[in-house]
Amino acid sequence: MKNILNAPFVEEMKKTCANMYRLGWDERNGGNISYLLKKEEVEEYLDTTNVLRTIPTGFDATALIGEIFIVTGTGKYFKNVAEDPETNLGILRIAQDGTTAELLWGYKDGGKFTSELPAHLMSHIARRKVDPENRVVMHSHPTYTLAMNYVHELDEKKFTHTLWEMCTECIVVFPDGVGVLPWMLCGTNSIGEATAKKMEEFRLVVWGMHGIYGAGKTMDETFGLIETVEKAAQIYMLTAHLPRVNTIKDSEMVELAEFFGVKYRKDFLNL
Ligand code: 13P
Ligand code: ZN
Repeated sequence: MKNILNAPFVEEMKKTCANMYRLGWDERNGGNISYLLKKEEVEEYLDTTNVLRTIPTGFDATALIGEIFIVTGTGKYFKNVAEDPETNLGILRIAQDGTTAELLWGYKDGGKFTSELPAHLMSHIARRKVDPENRVVMHSHPTYTLAMNYVHELDEKKFTHTLWEMCTECIVVFPDGVGVLPWMLCGTNSIGEATAKKMEEFRLVVWGMHGIYGAGKTMDETFGLIETVEKAAQIYMLTAHLPRVNTIKDSEMVELAEFFGVKYRKDFLNL
């Protein structure tokens, strides 16, 4: 059996959490990541018949029975993941009842998965219906995206349009736009269900005055989505109080989307 601490998926979690912390997106225990693993890959590092503990999830994830995820722990700090992955991360499998997580590794101090597991697993279920290759769901509190929530209307057409206007490549990176939820109580099945509903349409969902969710095939794709929104939000926050002299026109966004061959939300433009 190979050493799990050298597994590429543990390395990816360590690097991503460190980057998110470095960028100031994940203060204290802010943010969480879930990453769907390939069973064959996990079996190189773990005896998957050895369940360390079972933990009830409190919701139905029947569509994910038998699937294995690596997930950040609740209350754990992203800044500490790299130095102690076995305490701050866990590998779990959804049990045959669909409502229990079987812990295969990690949460060494007796901890458990993120309080946002409903939003994560429900989003995995929703995204995999649209894209069977989706593997990553990421939640974060990026500074400028959050700041923008306080000064910009929380309307997904208007919010997406403003972001698209801020950097030329935005419409190419997230042509499907950004879904927006109003402020809701976090850590609940209700916010999980609302997020998953948005994930049927979007790979990015803003949680009003809280943060953002991203979903993608790989860690890089998912991180890159959030990173691009955050860059656009930063430009917005640096310029929103100044007179706007120039802007990217809607006709130019159409040119971009067509040149790069992306399927974009035409209804989010004012054509
Ligand atoms: P957890 O520590 O439970 O992952 O919660 C962090 C967070 O960002 C809640 O939305
Ligand atoms: Zn949060």
